[in-house]
Amino acid sequence: MAIQKIGVVGCGLMGSGIAQVSAQAGFPTIVREVSPNALEKGMGSIRKFLQGGVDKGKLAAADMEKTLANLKGTTDLKDLADCDLVVEAATENVALKKELFGALDAAMKGGAILASNTSSLSITELATFTKRPERVIGLHFFNPVPLMKLVEVVHTVRSDAAVLQDLNAWCMAIGKTVVRCGDSTGFVVNRLLVPYMLDAVRVFEQGLASRDDIDTAMKLGCGYPMGPLLLTDYVGLDTTYYISEIMFDEFKEQRFAAPPLLKRMVLAGMHGRKSGRGFYDWSTNPPS
Ligand code: 3HC
Repeated sequence: MAIQKIGVVGCGLMGSGIAQVSAQAGFPTIVREVSPNALEKGMGSIRKFLQGGVDKGKLAAADMEKTLANLKGTTDLKDLADCDLVVEAATENVALKKELFGALDAAMKGGAILASNTSSLSITELATFTKRPERVIGLHFFNPVPLMKLVEVVHTVRSDAAVLQDLNAWCMAIGKTVVRCGDSTGFVVNRLLVPYMLDAVRVFEQGLASRDDIDTAMKLGCGYPMGPLLLTDYVGLDTTYYISEIMFDEFKEQRFAAPPLLKRMVLAGMHGRKSGRGFYDWSTNPPS
């Protein structure tokens, strides 16, 4: 396989999951965070997930040790210099990504692939921040990364077909199913999912039904694994809000516009599971 050594930029909700599944599949993986504290927090969540797997009898303790041995952390982008593939999973902010992609392009070896886990920004635009646009691809994972089986592989008009093949092979090696799609904001999943989540917030905001009834309706009425308000807490209200802003900006369609309640909750720091409070209170188990 052309891809042997992996770098992951960002060890938050998505980056930690991507680093974990890569290391778990046997790839030496180095994950970079901006500070030792952020790195330790991300590594801690990987250890917690793996330990949960061991406790549930899903993972042998020896495999947890092997996975952790494949994982290294750093705060220095230069440590990604010999990676064959770097997956960027930093905050959804185009100015930040512009700087990051320039720095990554300079640090990475020639021929290496730079993939972004962005959920809504244009891969074509991200590629322009580098001198390797034909090797910049979207690799969109889903939360929780270790449990969700899909990766959207997003190509641009500049993409090299051989790079797409290599990424396909790597995604299969880490146990994921690939769908391919073109570079349009939200790709396939978020194009369909985000308006659904925003509509659930609108239904709640308009007082049409209670939080629990909205979630129960979609769980039991449609067989979804969780209701849309719980899912929004899971994804993060801030992330959902940023994605909706980018999608609205792109398509100028009302269905992508963030409901005022979502904006207010984000402003109030109610970001969902990660902040302890969203539509649900996450200080209790299960959330109440
Ligand atoms: N290690 C190994 N396996 C584990 C584990 C761990 N730490 N924790 C759980 N599992 C296993 C369980 O044993 C179980 O396995 P089984 O099916 O063989 O019994 C399975 O994972 C499910 O776990 P649970 O039974 O604990 O939990 P649920 O059945 O409630 O499922 C869920 C949890 C997978 C999160 C499910 O609720 C779900 O699919 N929710 C929807 C998530 C979703 O839609 N994500 C996409 C969000 S959109 C996105 O990310 C894109 C972004 O751009 C916005």
